[in-house]
Amino acid sequence: MFNTVFKRLVSVYLVVILIIFAVLGVSMMKMFENYYFEKKSEALIAEGQKLNSTVIKYLNNQVTYERLGIEMESIERFLNAKIWIIDKMGYVYGVSSRSETKWIGRQLTEGDIVNVLKGNVVAKRGSYDEYFGGPVMTVGIPIFINGRVENGIFMHSPIYEIKETLNETYKIIIYSMLISMVIAVVLLYFISQKISKPIKEINEITKVIASGEFNKRVSIMSKDEIGQLAISFNHMAVELDRLEEMRKGFIADVSHELRTPLTLIKGYVKGLMDVQLSEERKEEYLDIIYKETDRLTELINNLLDLSKMESGKNMLNVEKFDINELIRRNIINYSNKLEDKDINVEANFKFDPVLVMADKESISQVISNLVDNAIKFMNNGGCLFIDTDIKEDKALISIKDTGIGISEEDLNNIWQRFYKGDKSRSRQVKGTGLGLSIVKEIIKSHNEQIWVESKAGEGTVFSFTLSLCNNE
Ligand SMILES: Nc1ncnc2c1ncn2[C@@H]1O[C@H](COP(=O)(O)OP(=O)(O)O)[C@@H](O)[C@H]1O
Ligand SMILES: [Mg+2]
Repeated sequence: MFNTVFKRLVSVYLVVILIIFAVLGVSMMKMFENYYFEKKSEALIAEGQKLNSTVIKYLNNQVTYERLGIEMESIERFLNAKIWIIDKMGYVYGVSSRSETKWIGRQLTEGDIVNVLKGNVVAKRGSYDEYFGGPVMTVGIPIFINGRVENGIFMHSPIYEIKETLNETYKIIIYSMLISMVIAVVLLYFISQKISKPIKEINEITKVIASGEFNKRVSIMSKDEIGQLAISFNHMAVELDRLEEMRKGFIADVSHELRTPLTLIKGYVKGLMDVQLSEERKEEYLDIIYKETDRLTELINNLLDLSKMESGKNMLNVEKFDINELIRRNIINYSNKLEDKDINVEANFKFDPVLVMADKESISQVISNLVDNAIKFMNNGGCLFIDTDIKEDKALISIKDTGIGISEEDLNNIWQRFYKGDKSRSRQVKGTGLGLSIVKEIIKSHNEQIWVESKAGEGTVFSFTLSLCNNE
């Protein structure tokens, strides 16, 4: 039933309007009623007081019964009130109009009569309705002579006129309620349209994006929450788009990287099938095939490492170890390559040992990737500097080479997967372009920093931080 924003808003508003008007109506009625009765009884009491002195004169035989009757009649006309005058036993002896003479001689015994004869003024409604065949309000006033109650005046005024006033008020309230409801429904219709239209739009676009069209965007300009939702939604769409592009690019890169060595292998295998090939040639071909399969294995291992790290499955096995020792061992592993290129290594450990908390195997991979790059991009006879230091509660490791350096343009891209600087480099410079991506992922998973400074032609420094082991 309340399945749309519009219906829901309308029902809530109508209920609110109804409650407001009901409360307002009832309290207004009560106010009117009280005000009316107060004024009416004030007027009756005021006239009653005037009549009081005439009654006293009549009792003292200063005016005639007729004179009293005339005065009562004029008050009846003026205030629309029937008047009784009673003696101290409760017998009615005077009435305001001829039609009322039937009351004369009747003894009244109601509590009010007793009350008035005790000397109190009484003002109430509803008690004498049956005498007059309709609702009346009654005011009773005692008449004192020499400080004692001798007589009483009762005035009854019909209250049908207040009913009319109240009915008028009812009408006004009901009309204003209807008008407010119509205005509310119309306004709510437009407001809910304004709310639901952009939501519908976002809904539609979501379906389109889910079906694979990542370039779709929502066009909502409002500054409210829905506008903010639209901005966040578009932001999400941009990110999805970017991810999709990356995914496509990644597949293209992987395919390309796999195809090149496979094509080479295929070509040389075909060459080997040639029976006339000399033994020397065969050996050369086999060597190339071996190197290319090696390259493929490295590529696939790197890809596996990356995907493991990105899926978060690579649980870090954090332990305490000496980073200086790990560096020493890595350099020993590379001693052949270093000798081949006649590279001099200078290790400068300001503190020894430097105990850190990290995943030893991953950090070893970081160091070997960085050292490998340094050796790879250095000419013969270069120098490799490896420093460790402690700065601001962190171990700081830097690996510096005197190699070819990295151009400013390449500096922004070297962390990307498959990015290899110097496109024209020969296939003799091995590498998958994944090394630094893996390094970055490892350092990121340790919540540490890595950065690079380099100048083309002068050399490169890679530096990274590690957490120190505190409980030494
Ligand atoms: N020490 C370095 N000196 C010069 N260039 C470097 C160095 N380390 C990395 N690079 C540049 O960054 C690129 C990406 O490095 P990396 O991800 O390890 O891939 P790869 O070593 O397979 O080429 C390299 O191709 C190279 O252009
Ligand atoms: Mg590398």
